[in-house]
Amino acid sequence: MFRDSFKYYKSRNPAPNLDDVIDLENPDHVKVRKIKANISDEQDENNFGLKPAEKWIIYELLDIPGLIFIQNPFTPNGQRYWIIKCLKDYSKEPYKLNIDAHNILANETWWEICFQMSERAKILLPKLRWSTLGYHHNWDTKLYSENSKSAMPMELSGLTSILAKTLGFSDFKAEAAIVNYYRMNSTLAGHTDHSEMNVAAPLFSISFGQTAIFLIGGPKQEDSANAIFLRSGDVVIMSGSSRLRYHGVPKILSTSRIPWDDNGEDNREIITYNYDDWRKARTYIVEARINMNIRQVLEPGQIVLY
Ligand code: OGA
Ligand code: MN
Repeated sequence: MFRDSFKYYKSRNPAPNLDDVIDLENPDHVKVRKIKANISDEQDENNFGLKPAEKWIIYELLDIPGLIFIQNPFTPNGQRYWIIKCLKDYSKEPYKLNIDAHNILANETWWEICFQMSERAKILLPKLRWSTLGYHHNWDTKLYSENSKSAMPMELSGLTSILAKTLGFSDFKAEAAIVNYYRMNSTLAGHTDHSEMNVAAPLFSISFGQTAIFLIGGPKQEDSANAIFLRSGDVVIMSGSSRLRYHGVPKILSTSRIPWDDNGEDNREIITYNYDDWRKARTYIVEARINMNIRQVLEPGQIVLY
């Protein structure tokens, strides 16, 4: 049962045995199908921090049809760029944050307060748990509304559109995103994502920072669950019949490898970031995980929600 597995992996004392966690860096014992990337020319114009698609390693898990895994397709600079985006840009207006309700940000942003030495910074830093972009997910009603939306950040739509096209989902439109910010002791309870009008469209989940144990069950709470390691840069796509499965994050683990520190080998790379921003963001990500969760909300051809 999903709930039992969640409890098992969440436990600190005793700590769980991780032998059964699916590790797609060593897929020898996992039933997978290798997927070939659809190569398009668009890649050359702006790569959004992605390696050339010819180099991506892509699997579909045969026991979970429609669940697609791309092993970190990002360059080290790409990871830095997206980590900074999430921490500096996606954590302020016009996006919605969990800490808006606390009324603690006057005319300052979370980023401005948190990366200076102060007591306030220490308190505020771990309080950020999510932000919503595009159509804002309403956590209470679980509904999206035309009255509650911002524009989707162009670069995030662009990134998702490349991921989608490379997997053959050419009609995908990024219309809503949740950015989840995890500290080392954070979890995300089991749930299904069913608020979107269009649950036939795939859902894209991109992880940075420390490693997650991602738990995915079946359509019902009672179904058994599989645990999968998600490391920095990994992309999971919930498509087809996997789109409405129960899933959650029972545990964050410290990573031994830190791909964002590798030196970029590709000097054709065009993605840039501010080095001082990275110096700050790096101090955060050594004990945190960030997940960008991107959805299409509307049906094909639908223009507004009603
Ligand atoms: C979500 C979600 C999973 C993750 O935001 O709906 O399931 O890996 N996130 O953080
Ligand atoms: Mn989810």
